[in-house]
Amino acid sequence: MTQQFSPTSDGLARAAEMLRAGKLVAFPTETVYGLGADARNDQAVAAIFGAKQRPSFNPLIVHVSSVDAAKELVVWSEQADALAEAYWPGPLTLVLPLREGAGVSRLVTAGLDTLAVRMPAAPIARDLLSQAAIPVAAPSANRSGQISPTRATHVLDSLDGRIDGLVMGGACDVGLESTILGLTGRPTLLRPGGITREALAHVLGGGVAERHATEGITAPGQIRSHYAPNAKVRLNAVDFVEGEARLGFGATDCDLNLSEAENLTEAAANLFEYLHRLDATGAERIAVSPIPHLGLGVAINDRLSRAAADR
Ligand code: TXA
Ligand code: MG
Repeated sequence: MTQQFSPTSDGLARAAEMLRAGKLVAFPTETVYGLGADARNDQAVAAIFGAKQRPSFNPLIVHVSSVDAAKELVVWSEQADALAEAYWPGPLTLVLPLREGAGVSRLVTAGLDTLAVRMPAAPIARDLLSQAAIPVAAPSANRSGQISPTRATHVLDSLDGRIDGLVMGGACDVGLESTILGLTGRPTLLRPGGITREALAHVLGGGVAERHATEGITAPGQIRSHYAPNAKVRLNAVDFVEGEARLGFGATDCDLNLSEAENLTEAAANLFEYLHRLDATGAERIAVSPIPHLGLGVAINDRLSRAAADR
């Protein structure tokens, strides 16, 4: 049985208690719903992988309620300071050297000597994390390989009965996972997201490298078919074919439109929800309009190309 909590102070107190007791609790962040567990508790973290049926070589992001809490886990830096000042709380994950004695489960880092940390902005997530007062490891709250959840109902569709609790918040504002920036060497964009490479470079006063697909580490997208719906996905569809579910962008005749006004922020927020909905129609194929490859469009195209990858 998955216990559903309302996002009231009482509900959040009980959800926080559940996390502290080593249970799995899904909760909304501004990006997507996360499946949280005490990052110091091996069994709790292992249960995440079990519930998600996730390949265990993928390291997890640890969520904290303050910069000070992050500093207890990683070796902080001036660059981290500048970025946290600009973007925390918010959809930016920083990968930094793991601090000795941080007490984080090896399963969280998948054996790496680095750790991904993030301070989410959504009020529900912030309240929950500060009440729990522990570092919370949380991947997106979906079964591995499925579309990321941006509503409580998505979490239930994917994980009901497999997790202990779910905080019933509303829709996620951003709708795309956080930007991941590696800061263990030259600043490197490990996953594009709501905060663009240009914006990060601006704060750092220097370039941010793009990661190359040939490099080793397992970031979210290293598994190419990561965000896969059941339907096949056809990208850059200018014309739609009879029988396809049509996911549009801009002024076009379609089943669901990511943003008629060609607003990329709106499109990002709608992306996973609309993929879910079109997939639920049972269509064999989802055709997607071209999305401009700039700003948030880079992250949207990244997710779409994974959804379209061969499996
Ligand atoms: O917006 C988000 O980031 C959401 C919400 C719940 O916060 N979380 C999320 O987690 O997207 P997940 O597990 O789906 O993706 C985390 C990705 C992993 O695929 C992993 O490869 C990368 O972060 N990652 C984690 N630790 C890392 C590390 N030490 N070095 C490089 N990449 C890391
Ligand atoms: Mg995920």
